Amino acid sequence: MGYPHPSHPRETPVLSKYFGDAEARTLAGWRARGGYEALEKALGMDPVDVQNVVKDSGLRGRGGAGFPTGLKWSFMKPDGKQHYILCNADESEPGTFKDREIMRWTPHGLVEGVALAAHAIYADTAYIYIRGEFTEPYERVTAAVREATAAGILGDNAMGTGRKLVVHVHKGAGAYICGEETALMNSLEGKRGNPRIKPPFPAVAGLWAKPTTINNVETLTAAPYIVKNGADWYKAFGRPDNPKSTGTKLFSVCGNIARPGNYEVAMGFPFKDFLWELCGGPLPGRAIKACIPGGSSVPILTAEECETAIMDYEGFVAAGTMLGSGGVIVFDDQQCMVRQIARLARFYAHESCAQCSQCREGTAWTTKILERIRDGEGVAQDLDTLLAIADGMTGKTICVLSDSCATPVVSGLKKFRHEFEAKIRPDRARVTMQGIPVLPPLGVTALKPVAA
Ligand SMILES: Cc1cc2nc3c(=O)[nH]c(=O)nc-3n(C[C@H](O)[C@H](O)[C@H](O)COP(=O)(O)O)c2cc1C
Ligand code: SF4
Repeated sequence: MGYPHPSHPRETPVLSKYFGDAEARTLAGWRARGGYEALEKALGMDPVDVQNVVKDSGLRGRGGAGFPTGLKWSFMKPDGKQHYILCNADESEPGTFKDREIMRWTPHGLVEGVALAAHAIYADTAYIYIRGEFTEPYERVTAAVREATAAGILGDNAMGTGRKLVVHVHKGAGAYICGEETALMNSLEGKRGNPRIKPPFPAVAGLWAKPTTINNVETLTAAPYIVKNGADWYKAFGRPDNPKSTGTKLFSVCGNIARPGNYEVAMGFPFKDFLWELCGGPLPGRAIKACIPGGSSVPILTAEECETAIMDYEGFVAAGTMLGSGGVIVFDDQQCMVRQIARLARFYAHESCAQCSQCREGTAWTTKILERIRDGEGVAQDLDTLLAIADGMTGKTICVLSDSCATPVVSGLKKFRHEFEAKIRPDRARVTMQGIPVLPPLGVTALKPVAA
């Protein structure tokens, strides 16, 4: 197989089983591998029963927030209104590239999941919103929708059941914020991709103000396996003592690591074994210094914390971080954490939609301060100022992009403060134009003196 790395014996390939298998991309190849059997089964079930199987399985959203999928589907009632299912394929979180591989290698698996979810939420129309830069995934998914429609799997009489299931594929224009669910809906409606204030939530008023369910690519692709094999089969993957995290999870691994790529493991896998055994550990002569395990928006772990963390929702929370999107970014001992965190801040500043002043100003201000510390121009107040800005950016905005920028700053300062302090000039204080030293922001303590 041509996939970048052969499956490791300790992986549990369910969604990734056919990565690298070009035949699985075609309708004939997908059907030969059992494809569309789950959709056929689901179409013969009452939508509530489909919702219940997914609820019982414990599947949680793989887009970052981990919301229970069956519960989300159960918000949709047979009210006779137009409903929509949206597939979030905007995957732009730094370090995350698992949805891309699902779409490249098993596009029919995604289309099957989207159609199954449409049935479960009483929708007849689905949209797959694909990141603007994803040229090949867009082509693969579009081809799969065309093939499935031509074969009567989708269309006005899906699989001969009399049920209408129409799937549209839409390409974004390359904006990270359009991955936020309400920004995605605005973008799909032809508006600027700004997040909306909630409530109303999408299940009440989503796309074109109609009840809408939105799910990530990986979430939707997992659903047919659950319907086909049953909730108990899915629940069996995971820690027996943790029923809150079930199934398998795709992790994308990048940065300073010997074998980067996508890996699928059962929930509850030891992070130490994952990094050092499956991914081959650091590059020769280097040591792992830190890691962000769930995309760039979650707190940073030190190498010591990585050695004891457990890879599921609760395990990562216990370690002081989050599972997020499953994008693992590894930093080795050659990396300057100030530089790395400044890079992330610049990303968020660039991608902020600028509706909220805390985010618009906070991401820009954070970037400016971090970059001056990185360049050796930091002053004594900067670390306290960074923390005060981060506080103002957390939990106060329309969406969590603002919080996402603050998170690596706060955890980076907590765990790698010495690297910041080593770069600032304790002998210098920021002064006003009149030459008066600028005091630290109200409510924060002054920076402790550091050794010269
Ligand atoms: C700034 C921002 C960007 C996001 N980007 C994505 C994304 O690229 N893909 C995704 O599935 N979810 C993304 N999300 C989360 C979505 O808003 C939403 O929670 C998710 O699509 C729900 O699907 P799930 O329940 O299957 O996880 C993002 C959220 C925020 C705040
Ligand atoms: S937090 Fe930032 S990205 Fe989110 S809505 Fe406000 S300004 Fe836009």
